[in-house]
Amino acid sequence: MSIRDFERYPLTFGPSPVHELRRLSAHLGGPRIFAKREDVSSGLAYGGNKTRKLEYIVPDILASGADTLVSIGGYQSNHTRQVAAVAAHLGLSARLVQERWVDWDDPVNDKVGNIELSRIMGADVRLDDHGFDIGIRSSWEEALAEVEEAGGKPYPIPAGASEHPLGGLGFANWAYEVAEQEEATGAFFDTIVVCTVTGSTHAGMIAGFAALEDAGGRPRRIIGIDASATLDKTIAQVTRIANHTAELIGLGRALRDDEITVLPGWEGPAYGIPDERTVAAIRDCARLEGVITDPVYEGKSMAGLMDLVTRGDIPADATVLYAHLGGQPALNAYAGIFD
Ligand SMILES: Cc1ncc(COP(=O)(O)O)c(C=O)c1O
Repeated sequence: MSIRDFERYPLTFGPSPVHELRRLSAHLGGPRIFAKREDVSSGLAYGGNKTRKLEYIVPDILASGADTLVSIGGYQSNHTRQVAAVAAHLGLSARLVQERWVDWDDPVNDKVGNIELSRIMGADVRLDDHGFDIGIRSSWEEALAEVEEAGGKPYPIPAGASEHPLGGLGFANWAYEVAEQEEATGAFFDTIVVCTVTGSTHAGMIAGFAALEDAGGRPRRIIGIDASATLDKTIAQVTRIANHTAELIGLGRALRDDEITVLPGWEGPAYGIPDERTVAAIRDCARLEGVITDPVYEGKSMAGLMDLVTRGDIPADATVLYAHLGGQPALNAYAGIFD
């Protein structure tokens, strides 16, 4: 088996664009930095990394005959917003459990941004008081049972689509896409920086790049920046999903410990809570490049990238690819930070 053997239902415009962040590179005085933009690669509700994951899950949804996608996330989940968009696109219903993953004291936190978009797209949005957890949730299992009891046929999509058996394939394919873009341009990205929380984005990349390396490709560093603030759980989940995805695409070996790097230090006080470094990174990236990142995910991985370059951990002769995974709609729920 290889990644090519899996059916993919297109939800994106094609390969996500790559562009150079010249002023950011100059500001940091370090390596050349490029961004690969999952946030501008789909016409479905602002896109993002889950859209790419869902491309490999939709064939299974359609084959199942389900009429309702059932998923879960925080109030400001980008994932559930993308599930709502895909449901609308396919003519299905969406039942979304939105848990209180973040204690963020903003009166519109459960009204604007992602959750507003999901409601506009017709999803059945239910608020739930449970706190943050990237694992399988009883509230989600109850929602599945309720859809069934009401005569519907649910299709389960866990948080971030990460624990779904096919959840890592989208970003395994991302690795192949990067290799094709490198071939076309002559560039080589020796360092990849990616935000990681529920794990299958980073895990898919690890599996895909390992397969490319085993086929004779040059080695590279894939640096996950933790934004979960539950590091051990995220590392365990990344490791499990990376190995599962590697098996699916025919890697034929277990992944080594040195192929799995999730760095703490920029997660802030908790999932969904930015600290001053998150906010500084959001401002710097926006002012230098006009590129927008969010306080929950990409602002944290951007802060990590900037620090790693500044302290020389990513050396000046590296060529860095920053995976921009989307997430900007949540900014609406954090307006107070930028007053
Ligand atoms: C914008 C954004 N960046 C990063 C992530 C982290 O991806 P993953 O959950 O696959 O680790 C997510 C989702 O959780 C996200 O919505």
